[in-house]
Amino acid sequence: MTRRKQIYEGKAKVLFEGPEPGTIVQYFKDDATAFNNQKRGTITGKGVLNNRISEFLMMRIAEIGVPTHFVRRLNMREQLVRAVEIIPLEVVVRNVVAGSLAKRLGMEEGAPLARSIVEYYYKSDALGDPMVSEEHVTAFSWASTHELDEIMQMALRINDFLSGLFVGIGIRLVDFKLEFGRLYDKGEPRIVLADEISPDNCRLWDSKTNEKLDKDRFRRDLGRVEEAYQEVARRLGILPESGPVDIRATDTLQ
Ligand code: TMP
Repeated sequence: MTRRKQIYEGKAKVLFEGPEPGTIVQYFKDDATAFNNQKRGTITGKGVLNNRISEFLMMRIAEIGVPTHFVRRLNMREQLVRAVEIIPLEVVVRNVVAGSLAKRLGMEEGAPLARSIVEYYYKSDALGDPMVSEEHVTAFSWASTHELDEIMQMALRINDFLSGLFVGIGIRLVDFKLEFGRLYDKGEPRIVLADEISPDNCRLWDSKTNEKLDKDRFRRDLGRVEEAYQEVARRLGILPESGPVDIRATDTLQ
């Protein structure tokens, strides 16, 4: 078998050239980082679970008519996606006060917001992903006004849909981060959802107990990190069939 050519290694994923032109293979690692790489660790089985969870959520999102880069899952740790031109923004949607919003405004975590908030952060590890406004995004041509409009509408639609999906399994979608990219269709750019959606980039709280079922367990040293990711997969009905054996297996990096 020919070795795949590595394109990029990120904090949680490795990207390889895909089998056909215009495709990419995303390999999900167990590595976890927080606070812009200052805190590092491993969450055993995270890559397997995030691969599944992201596959599931991207497919559901595509079903409601929001285009995504997702093509299909290849194996336990890899999925095939369309190669897109990534827009250098982290798009955060918030429904409840938490995380950096709570810190910035000196508020307690947990208060529901009267309306959902969309925030933009410029993707730059060197700068620690600074928050930017729509004006910055268009002034620096990271996205056009029209593209940004589309991104915001897609983000809110995804928020409405995912909030409902999670309510159904006893989880409150507190906030989450999305990334978008451009796909060229006969030269015409089209905005699609990219990256991943998983407990790495969502805050998911149990509806009854407010127990955190996401990466905050790692960021804040709350323990039972692996169990939280497994619980999300279990409630979504997608825990790997053979259980912990599958989860611990390391799929080939090839
Ligand atoms: P924040 O409250 O720290 O700004 O995070 C908001 C949401 O974005 C939260 O669900 C976690 C997610 N997130 C990422 O996916 N990547 C990041 O680098 C950061 C800081 C947050």
